[in-house]
Amino acid sequence: MCRVDTPRSSTDDDSRNDERKRVPSQSDRVHTFSLDRCELGVATAATQIEGGHAPTNWHRWAEQPGRIKDGSGPWRANDHWNRVAEDQALLRELNVQHYRMGLEWARVEPKPGEFDEAAIEHYRNELGALVDAGIKPLVTLHHFNNPVWFEDAGGFLHRESTGVLQRYVQRMVGALGDLCDEWITINEPNIYATHAYYFGLWPPGERSLKTLTHVYTNLAAAHIDAYRLIHELQPDARVGVAQHLRVFRPRIAWHPGHWASAQMMEWLFQRVITKAMCKGRFLAPLRQPPGVHPGIYYDFHGINYYSRSTVSRLADGVGTDVAINDLGWEIYPKGLIEVGRWLHETHPGPLYVTENGTANSDDGFRSRFIHEQLAEIAASDLPIERYYHWSFIDNWEWLEGESARFGLIRLDYETQQRTMRESGRFFSEIAANRGVTEEMYQRYVAHQTYSRNAAVR
Ligand code: FCB
Repeated sequence: MCRVDTPRSSTDDDSRNDERKRVPSQSDRVHTFSLDRCELGVATAATQIEGGHAPTNWHRWAEQPGRIKDGSGPWRANDHWNRVAEDQALLRELNVQHYRMGLEWARVEPKPGEFDEAAIEHYRNELGALVDAGIKPLVTLHHFNNPVWFEDAGGFLHRESTGVLQRYVQRMVGALGDLCDEWITINEPNIYATHAYYFGLWPPGERSLKTLTHVYTNLAAAHIDAYRLIHELQPDARVGVAQHLRVFRPRIAWHPGHWASAQMMEWLFQRVITKAMCKGRFLAPLRQPPGVHPGIYYDFHGINYYSRSTVSRLADGVGTDVAINDLGWEIYPKGLIEVGRWLHETHPGPLYVTENGTANSDDGFRSRFIHEQLAEIAASDLPIERYYHWSFIDNWEWLEGESARFGLIRLDYETQQRTMRESGRFFSEIAANRGVTEEMYQRYVAHQTYSRNAAVR
């Protein structure tokens, strides 16, 4: 959904109009705020930053001509595998208390059941250095990345995949559990399953609704088993899923067809999967799998929030005259609170914003974006304990390759030089001050504006 390219329609003329049309946002009204309850961090994923030739589904996919927008692959990315120390120095410069990072399953288990001790040791060293620096890690076990042997055996299409994932989870939690006690089992099961098995855009490129429902079911069952297993190994661990949640609104509010589409999208894309993973209850079109029982299978909710969809049929869309980022995604900071409220009311528990950020290559509006989003969090009564900005640094953005820049730190992919952006300095000051002062607002935010999506689609 969010990643299916939406045509960008703003032109230079549109952006000149934007200035006249800009309406005051929360950020214009509330310049200063303090973050009393919410701690700050940044997020990455292994395949997007490590570089090198791990045998993953994405390395293979990117090798096929035409799959990735700019022809790049994850083998370059940030060469983070060899630059952990340099990147951790930058994390310290950002003053963050938390860092969400992923593990590359294909590196630690390159063949079924055969673990690579050197790769495990590498992650132990990375986590150990974070802990020594006073930065608390939150580790993602699965972030769209399968070893090719797992994918070739059918991956999450089969119920047996659950047991295969457990072997990896058991080994990793056993090996890293003294350094980390917070885990995300699976990142964005809805984005992963729809893009890989329904839209055919991600590996393995399938397009089938029936397959999609099997994958949803098996991902949820795999999470539930992993949740239980991690608690057996580490009773005090905090375990959750990072759900991609969006706001869906009808393009024309009173139009019954648009309204029904918005409801349906919300149900199929996020409600059903959230219920299955958090409570072990599989509602239509899923079916309760044998051996999986209702219960409570989360210690926190990870929310990855990026945008709002404006729909008139069962397909993603962007509203007109709304603020947009470089990828044409609507910027709608209130949406985080809307989805958070729904989640909290239906499945109460601590909320971690495990990803939030924006594609903005010239950094012309990222500070405004951060300000608006954090102002919403500060004003909200929801138990939002953490905010992890996506992303720490520009990285390899799946189908967008190296063309979409989400980082607080700029990466020159050729030279691998890292440069702190102005928005990075803003974020680091917010983290140090636990809030924003008027002086910071004037220095970083006041002059920034968004582009707007002015065309009628
Ligand atoms: C999320 C993904 C993350 C990154 C951001 C921009 O959906 O979890 O890896 O691609 O979008």
